[in-house]
This record gives sequence, C-alpha cells and structure tokens, in this order.
Amino acid sequence: MKTDVRGLQLSTDSDAAVRHIDTAISDFMDYGVGASASLKAALEADPECALAQCFRGYFMMMLEMRSVLPKVQQTVAELDARHAKLTRREQLHIKALKAWGLGDIMGACGAWEEILVDHPHDLLAMKLHHTLTFYTGRSHVMRSVLQSVLGEWNDDTPGYGYVQGMYAYALEECGVYGEAEHWGRQAVERNPGDLWAIHSVAHVLEMQARSKEGSELLSQTIGQWKAKNPFKAHVWWHNALFQLAQGDLDRVLSIYDNELSSVNTDNYVDVSNQASLLKRLALGGADVGERWHKLAEHSKKRIHDHMLPFRDVHFCLALASSGDLETAREHISSMVTFAADRKDWQAEGTRRIVIPLCEALLLIAAEEHGKACDLIWPLRHDFSLIGGSNAQRDLFAQILCDAAVRGKRFTVARSLLGERVRNRTEHKANWTTYADVLSALGETKLAADAAKQGELVTQAGA
Ligand SMILES: [Fe+2]
Repeated sequence: MKTDVRGLQLSTDSDAAVRHIDTAISDFMDYGVGASASLKAALEADPECALAQCFRGYFMMMLEMRSVLPKVQQTVAELDARHAKLTRREQLHIKALKAWGLGDIMGACGAWEEILVDHPHDLLAMKLHHTLTFYTGRSHVMRSVLQSVLGEWNDDTPGYGYVQGMYAYALEECGVYGEAEHWGRQAVERNPGDLWAIHSVAHVLEMQARSKEGSELLSQTIGQWKAKNPFKAHVWWHNALFQLAQGDLDRVLSIYDNELSSVNTDNYVDVSNQASLLKRLALGGADVGERWHKLAEHSKKRIHDHMLPFRDVHFCLALASSGDLETAREHISSMVTFAADRKDWQAEGTRRIVIPLCEALLLIAAEEHGKACDLIWPLRHDFSLIGGSNAQRDLFAQILCDAAVRGKRFTVARSLLGERVRNRTEHKANWTTYADVLSALGETKLAADAAKQGELVTQAGA
C-alpha cells in the first residue's frame, strides 16, 4: 500500500506508479496533453494498479464513443476479480466506472459522491463528478458537492487551485457571479495554467455581457493554454462569443477556421462547439458557407452512439443545417429506439427534450418556423435536461426566439424577447428584434422605446 500526494492510499507497491498517477491527475486537471502518457507509465510500473486501471477506463469513457464500451466492461471485469483485495475507495471507483460504462451517469456520480464523503481530497473523483454533473446540467448538485468538501481544503493542500476553479464554475452556473469571479480569479492567480479556472472566469464575463473584458482575459492568458488538449477549442469558442457580441464577424470566422477546426482529426471532430458557433452566426444573418458539411460528415458516423443528449442535439443540428435531412431523420429514429428501451436520465432527456428539439430543427430546415416554435416553446424551461452550460444552452433559446419571429408567433416572440432584453440588457440585436415584434403587434410606443434602448447599448449580439 502506498499513498499519493494528498495522502490517499493506493493498492500498489510501486512508488513510481503513484508518482505517475499524481502527475496524470495534475495534467488531467490542467487539460494538458501528457495525462495519457503518465497513466501509461503508471501501468508499466504496476500493471495491476487498480486506480490506474480505473483511470484508464475513465479516459476511454471520455472519448464518448460507443465502440469503447466492450473494453471498459472488460476492465471492470478484471478489476472485479480482485475486488476484495482493494480499498473501499478503489472499489467505489470501479463501481463508478461500471455504472458510467452502462450509461448510468447518475449511478457513477453517486459512487464519486460516496468517495468524497470519506475522501474529500480525491481530486479525480471530484473532477469526474464535476464534469458529469456539468454534462447532465445539474449545477445545484455540482455546487453542493464542492461545498461539502471545501472545508477540508486549504492553501497547503496540493491542487487546491483546481478546487477553487471548479467551485467558481459551479457558482457561475448557479448565477452567483460575483463570488464565482472571486474564486475563479484566485484559482488563476494560484495556477495560471489552470484552463478550467480561466474558463470559469470567462463564463462569468459571458453571462454579464462583459465581452471586451472576456476577450482581453483570453488574450492575456493565451500563452498558458494555446498548447493544451482539445478542450482549448471550447475556450476559443468563448472567445468567439465575445467577438460576436462585439460585432466582429470576420474575427469570429477566423477563430472558427483557425482555432476551433484545428483540433479536428480523422477520429475526433469538435462538433458541439463548431455547430453551436455556426448556428449563432447563421441566426445573426452571417453566411457560413460550406462549413456545415464537414460537421455533418462526422455527425453521420455518430448517429447511433447516444453517449450524451448534449452531443446528440448538436449532431442533429449539424445534419439538419447542412441539408442532410434524411440522415437527421435516421438519427431521430435511432434516438426514439434508444430512449424507448431505457428508463434512465439519458433516456428521459432524449425523449422529453432532444427528440422534439431535433424534430423542430428539421421543421426549421423546411422553413416551417411557426410549427418549430410550437414544438420548442413547451420545452423552454427544461433545456437543462440536455446538459451543458447556461451559455451553451442559450443557443436553444435563440433558436426558439428566431422561430417565433420568422413563424409570426408574435406574442410568443414578445414574451421571449421581453425576457431576453432583461437578461442580456447590453445586446443590441435583442432590442432591435423586440422593437420589430412590438411594432408588428401594433404596440407603437413600446416599439419606439425598445428601438431607442437598442441605440443606446453597445454590444451587437443576441
Ligand atoms: Fe464553457
């Protein structure tokens, strides 16, 4: 038995394996490119090290490909055979991996929460819980679990900055922006290479429409994250949103072509960030050219995966927007079959939100905007079931708003825009469209007031 850098026990006799696991966890937390190599070194030092094997299984799951599941199940079976010889913490990591591999994300989160009750310094369990609660849109759970461990961390605990950065993100998603920024900036100061902490601060600036400060933050810190793993594309996506809000469409397209697309490989394409950005550009009236096609080509290969509702909706968005409606319909049929066979969170999110939303995307592609609006409108309070962040899910609110306007559902559009101009007061496009809608409804005085307000604000975006 050995102990790691935070005093947690591991069933191994190899000091080298523990050292490599410590490095792998730090690199994983930092979104570096060396975590897999460190993990490989740990397994070379001790092929039987249960935590390293679990960690390798987690990495496989993070690929979000159905094709890895047999290998994950094989890893679980091998670990189960040695179950009785392992610590309770290791047994719970196996339980989490097993649940995740079976698509039971809530079960996996439950196992990590059990670990954190007894081992609040288990950074791996904490980060995985953080990521999966983010993927499931449960910001209150994310915040609650981090609060439950925070008292056990301080300046002397290795990796404290990572906890601060995660807590900042959880607070931001719960709308506690001032406190979130405070924790996020502290984390960045402690570890300038902590990309998640930088990202947490970027989220605060996005939600508060502080786009100039946002692009400055990302420009000032770029030296710290330009060589990180493909998550950096998501940070570029945030930078593109800041540029979009400032009305610099050329810069947005340049970021798309040079930064978001640059993480694409034969096996991996950054569909969610890219589709989301292209759709925002298209909603703003920009010509995005042939860019949808590459995303659709990749999405086509993933229509039967159903690893996350959030990915499914973006695959369908790319397919529908590229004009490949036949594959989009096939994708929806596959989701219907997937959701019919299951009773878990993924099935519920797919059935209740993703399938009708994707059907609405097909209606939009067929210029049936009013019908699309009718389909999305009842879902609008439950978009969090798709997962992702508030900033990411705002795309669906924008799609609904656009469908309401184009489909001449003017009273619906009035209520949606009435809300948007209060939440995103600085964004000109919302005020302008609000004025047009009020005018169409004959509310001349209110329309003039909204148009005047639009002239006073400085940000172009919606
Ligand atoms: Fe984000």
